[in-house]
Amino acid sequence: MTFPITRFRRLRANPVLRDMMRENTVTLNDLIYPIFVEEELDDFAPVESMPGINRIPEQKLGQVVKEIYAAGIKAIMTFGVSHRKDDTGSDSWNENGLLARMTKRAKDAAPELLVISDTCFCEYTSHGHCGVIHGEDVHNDHTIENLAKQSVVAARAGADMIAPSAMMDGQVAAIRAGLDGHGFSNLPIMAYSSKFASAFYGPFRAAAGCDLIGDRKAYQMDPANGREALRESMSDEAEGADILMVKPALPYLDVLNQVRQHSLLPIAAYQVSGEYAMIKFAAQAGAIDEHRVVRETLSSIKRAGADLILTYFAMDIARQGF
Ligand code: PBG
Repeated sequence: MTFPITRFRRLRANPVLRDMMRENTVTLNDLIYPIFVEEELDDFAPVESMPGINRIPEQKLGQVVKEIYAAGIKAIMTFGVSHRKDDTGSDSWNENGLLARMTKRAKDAAPELLVISDTCFCEYTSHGHCGVIHGEDVHNDHTIENLAKQSVVAARAGADMIAPSAMMDGQVAAIRAGLDGHGFSNLPIMAYSSKFASAFYGPFRAAAGCDLIGDRKAYQMDPANGREALRESMSDEAEGADILMVKPALPYLDVLNQVRQHSLLPIAAYQVSGEYAMIKFAAQAGAIDEHRVVRETLSSIKRAGADLILTYFAMDIARQGF
């Protein structure tokens, strides 16, 4: 059937019809808010490349997570800004280290707020890489042992979910075994399964204080590769991931949609720091309407197949509504 019998505009004629025909909605249940927590910091430190985002002083984290929860956010992802960096990132698996302390502090202040622990080393290593360096390279098998240690420490501190982002082979299996071996067989893993070596992480590196010597191309994925992203996702699923993730989001909606076609697991998409910065700065320059653009991006990410979205806009949305 086609025009003039078919007229698409019939179902677009008024707001009620348009609301009824809407295929996707985004709610606060879908959003995860990433935050940066710094030790030995006196006051909130604005991240210049991410307008509206601050590094949170460790001592003020309790007050902040209470505000986040009161605003209606259900889940946060925590990143530590470490002052105790070394060549392995050992502070991240120290029972009294920043990662353990911030996790515990967040859970104590807002027990109902889900704390998802980003599980990686780049914020804790002096060289800024996501693992232990042997020779010229990040050593895979040594790093996944350390990831398992870090996960157990996060779990003991009260984390509700572990989110490995180091892009080491076998990291999900190693973490699952580590958690299960320490009584945390019910703790879910959200795997950064398709994580690309993206230039869109630029502002994050300033926010998390993890400038890097070199690049991450020997462990993160080539932005040109879609098929490989499926293999990575399928392999994380086979290793026991409970949720898969695609990161960044908007430039990789095709990947997200393909992962959606191939897996029955819940899928998360990470709208990263560079995606956030582009919208914020374009809006500040008067080029776009921030409110509408943000909602359009989130609904595109949902339409492509995401169940969950990690976004620095979560707090704005919680305050302003959809
Ligand atoms: C690494 C990590 C990164 C991000 C999240 N986890 C940076 C990287 O891989 O270089 C980027 C997030 C963002 O850009 O918002 N643990």
